[in-house]
Amino acid sequence: MSTIAWIGLGHMGLPMTKNLMKAGHTVRGFDLSEPAMQAAAEAGVTACASAAEALEGAEVVFTMLPKGEHSLAAYGGENGIFASAAPGTLLIDSSTIDVASCQQLHDAAQEAGFEFVDAPVSGGISGAEKGTLAFMVGGEEAAVEKARTYIEPMAGNIIATGAPTTGQAAKICNNLMLFINMVSTSEAAVLADRLGLDHSVFYSIAKVSSGDSWPLRTWYPYPGVVDTSPANDDFAPTFTADLALKDIKLAMAAGQDTGTDLTLGTMVTKMLQQISDAGSGGKDCSIVKKLVDGTFEA
Ligand SMILES: NC(=O)c1ccc[n+]([C@@H]2O[C@H](COP(=O)([O-])OP(=O)(O)OC[C@H]3O[C@@H](n4cnc5c(N)ncnc54)[C@H](O)[C@@H]3O)[C@@H](O)[C@H]2O)c1
Repeated sequence: MSTIAWIGLGHMGLPMTKNLMKAGHTVRGFDLSEPAMQAAAEAGVTACASAAEALEGAEVVFTMLPKGEHSLAAYGGENGIFASAAPGTLLIDSSTIDVASCQQLHDAAQEAGFEFVDAPVSGGISGAEKGTLAFMVGGEEAAVEKARTYIEPMAGNIIATGAPTTGQAAKICNNLMLFINMVSTSEAAVLADRLGLDHSVFYSIAKVSSGDSWPLRTWYPYPGVVDTSPANDDFAPTFTADLALKDIKLAMAAGQDTGTDLTLGTMVTKMLQQISDAGSGGKDCSIVKKLVDGTFEA
């Protein structure tokens, strides 16, 4: 069994570490947030005062941070991961970040003599809890194969995507579909409600019909239908609207770079931006349903 350093113990990071510990690994964790550290310590993570301390004795480090700027900050600098990790430590960034920052990390890792993979995930908090996340892993083949062993307890699927940064590319494209599907689910759910359909009846039909999707099954936007839905708890966050906005903007930027017309992506970006501008970016992204039914309040 291995000693694993984990940086970023938020909504995703903490449940992911629980599955590593369940598999028998020791996890040494660090997060900038005190409440996150407290929750991690209660779960059995060895609480460390810095990333450098978490890396002591670790053969692999995972980072699970909000954005590219956070990953760059955690890996770079005097006390960052590149400076603190022992030679031979495998570096795995599971955050969803922009391709340019990801390339920067690959380049810096190579320069510093480390194996590094980009390994973003899909499956949300529920997938993180159940250990069924899909990992999209980009990097040199040998590093990707090595990463598999550590990823396994957290994963339902581990898919090698190819060259460095292709894991992030896959994630960005997947999430473009996710948020468009979230809005389509919201529009259909609100319309079904107004046409007199019982929420659970319509849900049970769509789930086995051609309207099925991950947000339908996980985030159905009326309470009392799906256990994992944020609507059950006034849209308390599982995947915040701000993080969703960050992800869809990564897709929009990639669309611009490649001359790809993302008409629906543009519309969904506007909706998430409206939620964020109104100060509700900390709520779950499935709150878009309130824009559809007109109950959204700034
Ligand atoms: N929430 C989801 O459903 C979901 C699903 C798939 C992927 N993701 C992606 O996973 C990543 C993490 O998402 P999350 O929901 O766990 O976010 P989160 O905001 O809940 O957690 C991120 C944590 O990183 C910590 N942090 C930031 N900078 C740090 C640093 N330099 N050192 C140590 N800790 C630092 C923060 O304090 C926070 O606790 C994001 O890139 C997100 O897009 C999220």
